[in-house]
Amino acid sequence: MKISEASFAGSSTRISEKPKQRFPEFAFIGRSNVGKSSLINMLCNKRKLAMTSGTPGKTRLVNHFLINGEWYLVDLPGYGYAKMSKTGRQKLEQVINNYINFSEEMHLLFVLIDSRHDIGKIDLDFLMQLGNRGIPFSIIFTKADKLGKNALAAQIERNRQALLEYWEELPPVFISSAETGEGKEEILDYIGSLLEEMKKEEK
Ligand code: GTP
Ligand code: MG
Repeated sequence: MKISEASFAGSSTRISEKPKQRFPEFAFIGRSNVGKSSLINMLCNKRKLAMTSGTPGKTRLVNHFLINGEWYLVDLPGYGYAKMSKTGRQKLEQVINNYINFSEEMHLLFVLIDSRHDIGKIDLDFLMQLGNRGIPFSIIFTKADKLGKNALAAQIERNRQALLEYWEELPPVFISSAETGEGKEEILDYIGSLLEEMKKEEK
């Protein structure tokens, strides 16, 4: 799948404020600073579509981007930013939970994990919650350019094994880099195949 058109469609803190035009949504979540907004920009070939920052906690709202006039990429705030005030964190959690629990159009949630690190408790807890609530998700290991080829493969294998302690089988897993564009085709083709499936089901 190719993205020929990508534009900002609106920000919200609750689903009643979502863009009025409803289309299938593919959302990106993960720890603060893991690279959600950068990945969206990379997928869309636009450097400044979603706002990014070296300081965690940049994205505070749910941001919808309309793609090819027929589906949305959704940029969510990050979870687990330790330096934020308790109230600030609770507010973000509310924004995130309201979206992932109640957005009827959300077709799939991509959970991003930094490919350099071991999966932490905070990620595992988040993934467990998704499992318990029956929310469909897929995993993307980000910032692949920051590790050498062998170290990357070893770290990803460690993380797969860590996940396999909790799940019998894993959902599709992708590797990405906003710097090199790695993973772009695979992620977009996967979204494309899910959209095709939806169209067939509608017929
Ligand atoms: P919040 O909105 O704060 O939750 O963060 P985010 O997950 O949207 O992260 P963002 O895209 O803002 O990126 C955070 C930092 O990581 C920025 O300094 C990016 O330039 C950097 N970054 C993101 N993706 C990559 C990547 O694939 N490779 C490298 N080298 N740096 C990246
Ligand atoms: Mg962001």
